[in-house]
Amino acid sequence: MVDLRAQYARIAPSIDAAIASVIESTRFIGGEHCGLFEAEFAAYCGVAHACGVANGTDALTLALRAYGVGPGDEVVTVANTFVATGEAILLNRARPVFVDVDPQTYTLDPALLERALSPRTRLILPVHVYGHPADMEPILDMARRHGLPVLEDAAQAHGAEVAGRRVGSLGHAACFSFYPGKNLGAYGDAGLVVSGDADFIARVRQLANHGGGADKYDNVVPGTNSRLDTLQAAVLRVKLRHLDEWNQERRQRVEAYDEALGGVPGLVTPRERAGARSAWLLYTLRVRDRDALQTHLRAQGIATAVHYPRPLHLQPAMASAGGKAGDLPVSEQLCREVLSLPLYPELPLAAVARIAGEVRSFRAAAVAGA
Ligand SMILES: Cc1ncc(COP(=O)(O)O)c(C=O)c1O
Repeated sequence: MVDLRAQYARIAPSIDAAIASVIESTRFIGGEHCGLFEAEFAAYCGVAHACGVANGTDALTLALRAYGVGPGDEVVTVANTFVATGEAILLNRARPVFVDVDPQTYTLDPALLERALSPRTRLILPVHVYGHPADMEPILDMARRHGLPVLEDAAQAHGAEVAGRRVGSLGHAACFSFYPGKNLGAYGDAGLVVSGDADFIARVRQLANHGGGADKYDNVVPGTNSRLDTLQAAVLRVKLRHLDEWNQERRQRVEAYDEALGGVPGLVTPRERAGARSAWLLYTLRVRDRDALQTHLRAQGIATAVHYPRPLHLQPAMASAGGKAGDLPVSEQLCREVLSLPLYPELPLAAVARIAGEVRSFRAAAVAGA
């Protein structure tokens, strides 16, 4: 699905020098790379403050805690996402309330939001899934009317935009993951919370660093150890400089897929909402005979993935949220039909053509046999 070796080959000297600089300094915890990466990534998003943490799951978990989410609270989110979104809510002993997604962009359907709110709702958590920004304006409108904060799960959408503004700057705060395969990926685990609210970011930092106070051995609130690793910060600083170029290269491959797959019967290719620019982490098709297509592509040596095979409300770990089959028809249908094709900046255009050709011929044979 991705070729991280090909990416490393493009930037090896700068990466090697960045890693060497950390080793030479022996500042393995904290150090200048962490603060600089926080400032650089916050500026990239167009937001004033950021706190680096150990991974994207902790970013969500700690951000929810910093908003005061706790037992008895409800957090409204989607089921068509990576499990960490729901997990972060459960880890705060709050209840996830899942809303179905828009059938065009697969992000939270704002038309369904109001009926999901209750007096216990504490926060709204839209997900920019596959890299496509959620429909933030109506979500923020609704949140304003109900006095609720909106936390963006931007783990899949570094550099995505709505009306020229980058994700991370759209809600009250946002969480990012730098899992290696993401648009901006570390060489291990890493995550970050951004916000325009300095006090909120200070609370996240406190929670991520043993609930500390002014002195290293002050323990003001129960916290944890979820610091951004210094080696990862050094790697991420190098890679951030290339993010826009790499996102543009992803877009070129998306356009090539679109052109080759347009009009193929029984296939729905991904689309952007007017005014939105996806970061294109994933190129996710919808196709009825998904499993057969995946098997066919595997036989041709083409890797694909299903994002996601089971919606969160039907995951055993989320049973306490009380979801059942049929609650979220669009999300449930997506789980049966979605298939992500390989997509990364270095993917040769000839490979895009070959993969698309295999998809086309598989569908043509299916239509002929029907
Ligand atoms: C939507 C979403 N949220 C949260 C996460 C969690 O991030 P991490 O794997 O860095 O913990 C991910 C990671 O895949 C994700 O895709």
